[in-house]
Amino acid sequence: MKALYFNRFGDSDVLEYGDIKIPNIGENDVLIKTEYIGLNFADIYRRRGNYHIEDNQPYINGYEASGQIIKVGANLKENLLGKSVLFVDVPFANAEYVKAPSDHLIMLPNGIDTKKAATIGLQGLTADFLANNLGQNKAADNVFITGISGGVGQLLSQILSAKGVYVSGSVSSKLKQKAALSLGANQVYLNCDKAIWQPKLISKVDTVYDGVGSTLAESISLLKNRGKVIFFGMAGGKPENIDLIDLLTHSKSILTGDLWDYLTTFEERQFRSERLFKLISDGKIKTSEPTIFPLSEGKAAHDFLESGKNIGKILLKTD
Ligand SMILES: NC(=O)c1ccc[n+]([C@@H]2O[C@H](COP(=O)([O-])OP(=O)(O)OC[C@H]3O[C@@H](n4cnc5c(N)ncnc54)[C@H](OP(=O)(O)O)[C@@H]3O)[C@@H](O)[C@H]2O)c1
Repeated sequence: MKALYFNRFGDSDVLEYGDIKIPNIGENDVLIKTEYIGLNFADIYRRRGNYHIEDNQPYINGYEASGQIIKVGANLKENLLGKSVLFVDVPFANAEYVKAPSDHLIMLPNGIDTKKAATIGLQGLTADFLANNLGQNKAADNVFITGISGGVGQLLSQILSAKGVYVSGSVSSKLKQKAALSLGANQVYLNCDKAIWQPKLISKVDTVYDGVGSTLAESISLLKNRGKVIFFGMAGGKPENIDLIDLLTHSKSILTGDLWDYLTTFEERQFRSERLFKLISDGKIKTSEPTIFPLSEGKAAHDFLESGKNIGKILLKTD
């Protein structure tokens, strides 16, 4: 089968596209013919050698894809064959065929095709646990999202808007501002105008969702006393050290979370994805059209993600 892989850590030049063996499945596994593979920031961290990656020669990136079940293990029901599924936490996804444990499958309901499922995928489930487990915002809360036009930002913004939360956020370009406003954000600020809008938001915000990371200190400054920053990623670089005593003095908190700690059973994966899919079928969440690269052009896809120019999801398509 064809796969995108690398033998050493580094910039996108280390990526190669070529032939490797189709994996053997165990009795509780299925074999999936992938259609759309999600490209995520974590894949960049892994390629650079800054993040956990499954030990394998060669290294194969990716944990998220949608496709069809084409083989089932001896302990599983035959009627799984042909079903459309999504997974977001199975290694070696940058390949035409992926072995997945059956309890890691997310079954797709009618109306959600493999492209839509991969577009929502990991970002949608992340937005789900950030909003419902960490943020727990109430209607009329004042919330700010850094990089609001990104994959997680778009979905999080809509999940919160559907709860009646007042959602604002920041972006780096007018194109991204337009995209975030078209998905229902109340107010979207340009980073280049920070000197104007940021002082007006100091101590006004209940919750900041920060997946940019390098902005953490600024995010804390926007909080009201008793407010919280939900720090969930470092797309813009590592945050500087935070003064805990300063946080304590103003009763401010920082919460963190990793999706994989919120997807621990088949039931949890199903429950969270059904909640998301319902928001989509109810018309409460829209997604912007994903940018799709053939898997063979994985290097171009990595370069595009690292350029910070994308709006929404990047997918790799197998033949
Ligand atoms: N905790 C978890 O479980 C979990 C799960 C999934 C993702 N994440 C994290 O969530 C964050 C957002 O992920 P995503 O999939 O939504 O990514 P994305 O679609 O690429 O969005 C990230 C946003 O970050 C901003 N950004 C700031 N500096 C950047 C830089 N140097 N390079 C690229 N983007 C930069 C960009 O917005 P502007 O250009 O408007 O600033 C971009 O739209 C990432 O940090 C990711 O690692 C965490």
